Amino acid sequence: MRWTFETGSSAAAKTEGLAVGVFDDLNFKGVPGAKQVRAEAERLRFKGAAGESFFAFNLAGKPAKHLLLVGLGKREQLAPAVLRAASALAANRFRERFLQSAALDLPMGEDTAPARWAAAQAVVEGATLANGRFTRYKTDESSKFPGLASLEIFVPAKDPGLAQGGKLGQVVAEATLFARSLVTEPSNALTPLRMAEEARRVAEEGGLTAKILGPKECAKLGMGAYLAVAQGSKNEPRFIHLSYRPKGAKFHLGLVGKGLTFDSGGISIKPADGMGAMKSDMAGSAAVLGTMKAIAALKPKVAVDAVMAMAENMPGGGAYRPGDVLTAMSGKTIEVLNTDAEGRLTLADALTYIQKLGVDAVIDLATLTGACVVALGPDFSGAMGNDQRFVDEILAAARESGDEIWQLPLPPAYNKYIKSDVADVANISRIRWGGAITAGLFLQNFVQEGTPWVHLDIAGPALRDDEGADAHKGEGSGVGVRTLVRFILGKG
Ligand code: BES
Ligand code: MN
Ligand code: ZN
Repeated sequence: MRWTFETGSSAAAKTEGLAVGVFDDLNFKGVPGAKQVRAEAERLRFKGAAGESFFAFNLAGKPAKHLLLVGLGKREQLAPAVLRAASALAANRFRERFLQSAALDLPMGEDTAPARWAAAQAVVEGATLANGRFTRYKTDESSKFPGLASLEIFVPAKDPGLAQGGKLGQVVAEATLFARSLVTEPSNALTPLRMAEEARRVAEEGGLTAKILGPKECAKLGMGAYLAVAQGSKNEPRFIHLSYRPKGAKFHLGLVGKGLTFDSGGISIKPADGMGAMKSDMAGSAAVLGTMKAIAALKPKVAVDAVMAMAENMPGGGAYRPGDVLTAMSGKTIEVLNTDAEGRLTLADALTYIQKLGVDAVIDLATLTGACVVALGPDFSGAMGNDQRFVDEILAAARESGDEIWQLPLPPAYNKYIKSDVADVANISRIRWGGAITAGLFLQNFVQEGTPWVHLDIAGPALRDDEGADAHKGEGSGVGVRTLVRFILGKG
């Protein structure tokens, strides 16, 4: 989707569609055909609330034939998030009508330049995200409709910051869409090997360093926990390590993404119902790879290393078993009590590996527990960490970005629930409750004291079961990309 900033009257836009934002004070001044539009708004009981919209295309003047009114809620509550949602809503509604060109007339005239950039970013981001659909496996013509090809964004006055904001919105949205598509891809297409190819391509295009390790190399490094998870599948594991090391960086971040291309549960097999959703069990690695793609384009002065321990958890003849004792790369031993608690095993070795790179802080993203979904529902990720200041920085980055994250505690007292009789630690808790937390505590066993670390359990939002403001039912959400990019840019 091409986007441009335009000045002047949006009513004169030579596009197929025009979307105009209206606050809940229902001031239609300046809207083409304002009188009739107001009457139509009344008839439809349109209140101008955020999320509301209606077409008045038959009332509009020329040349924009499809006039869409979009509610913005309270004028005082206007924020980038409102603009992002409004532009996404407009893009979605224009798609219904198979429009390819549209203009947006939203309140972009904030007083300060930063606010204008943020508005520009939000509008481009929202429309680009909503416009992106996973249609790869559709063969009928209407499903394959590519959406808007061009968007004219009307602003009171042009300034260079707007274009920069728009560009940032585009980069972030495209990285998010990339992550989404990886999550939506089925597991027969997206194997560990294929993910490694995707990572290699991201590295080549963006000038990053890529290192891909096969099972033999991982064995040499002593990754006994990760390799155990992978051993039941005939799709070989691949351990992916991408590096971005700009000159003059003062901060070195480590990213870890859970990368189960499919999680059947292994020998502790999952119920059949909904098992297909476990193609999304690599959403953490997708978020990490999407973030690296954006970082390569934005080139902040922050060093970033990213690792993704890709594997498939299957109950094959060579599969690991409940009762097995594994030795992790760190030297710690783990008793496997449930082969479906596999993500934490792969992350244990990935965390050890990344800390050897001398990073200043580590963030891991993982579709780790159903318990986190029970706790927070489908929209929120859970955050846990060993350094409150670092957790707060991530929560702040999320708040601005469109991702929703809520903190959970990591009480040391709960460590007793993951004690093992025969090994250093067990991979599941002996009680039913607080499963997201005990998973976080398990991971903490593999984080050195003094390394600030945040664990994001993204099991809830990774795969959308409903339409979201700018995300689509049945598709990956790309959760995490926007938070990570924002956090990293703030460090550069
Ligand atoms: N990948 C799942 C967690 C998950 C559940 C992700 C729902 C997305 C949606 C993870 O590997 C898993 O199976 N966790 C188990 C842990 C249990 C065996 C301690 C779970 O949550 O049931
Ligand atoms: Mn599992
Ligand atoms: Zn899993």
